[in-house]
Amino acid sequence: MSQADALAAIAEEYYQIGESILDSFPKYRLPLDLFMLNEEVAQLLTYSRKDTRLSADQVEEIHKLCAEGNLFVSRRDHPIYSKHIVKQLDLVLVDQNLKEKEVADICISALDLRLGDFFEQPVKPQFERLLSDVMVITEYLWTDLHRLRLFTNRLHKGDHSLIRHSINVFCIGLWLYVYPTNENLRRKDFDQAALALLLHDVGMSKVPAFILSKTTPLKPEEKEKIPPHAANGYKVLHKLDDGYDLMRQATVEHHERLDGSGYPMHSTDISSFGRLTAVADAFSAMLQKRPYAEAKEALAAARELAEAKNRFDLAFSGKLLASLLNDSFGKVK
Ligand SMILES: [Fe+2]
Ligand SMILES: [Fe+2]
Repeated sequence: MSQADALAAIAEEYYQIGESILDSFPKYRLPLDLFMLNEEVAQLLTYSRKDTRLSADQVEEIHKLCAEGNLFVSRRDHPIYSKHIVKQLDLVLVDQNLKEKEVADICISALDLRLGDFFEQPVKPQFERLLSDVMVITEYLWTDLHRLRLFTNRLHKGDHSLIRHSINVFCIGLWLYVYPTNENLRRKDFDQAALALLLHDVGMSKVPAFILSKTTPLKPEEKEKIPPHAANGYKVLHKLDDGYDLMRQATVEHHERLDGSGYPMHSTDISSFGRLTAVADAFSAMLQKRPYAEAKEALAAARELAEAKNRFDLAFSGKLLASLLNDSFGKVK
């Protein structure tokens, strides 16, 4: 095996850790095994085992190895180093050694964390943190839009979670927004679409928690608390941001239906982005188990939406179904 092949094999299983991530760990007791590269023989040697107390000299030495690009950790420890990267997400833009699927996992975990904090406390500081991570993710995706497939491959199915539902809508909605015809896509619109999709249900943060967490069907008086979330969502966002068009359309219109059977306005005049969000939202909702419905398979859910063309825009539901049928939901042409 040539030296280049040996190094490539190492990079497959081991991650060359950067200085910022190393600095984010406790200095003298690292929670993962460290390996050092012997370049001459293209082999990794164990430097220290996790949770071992390091001496001051060793700490100095590992920082030197790290700066030289010779310090590695096992990719099996991905959950450990990811936890640190999630909190300083902009590292994913400069770290050349993370695999794209690792970055997708880290981005989704970051959204999970920031969105959870924001829904709990929808105030400016939490919004700014979320916004900054969303901008890192759109920067990452914009560099190569094919990366979106790694996000659409990571939809959360099964038990319902408002946060994971919102992330699903973000992934599916961006997919529908970008492919295959949006040739004049501008970065600014892409950023705004991403944020609007992610926050389409922010009005749910005003619905009492006991209603959201109920595992039995809602009583009529509890059900009444749900529809205002569409209009409330935009009010929350308008206070925090400029409240641009895509944000209003995603929050206010995602439960409207083409035949006027939706809410809150029973409108039949729905913007294109509102219709797109409605498809992404309904599809995501069908993938998760609710007190009134079992989780559906993705293909069955997309088929149902495409068949309901009196209520959902076939331009988007058809694209979703076609993506699943020809398996391009993960493979962008
Ligand atoms: Fe909603
Ligand atoms: Fe939703």
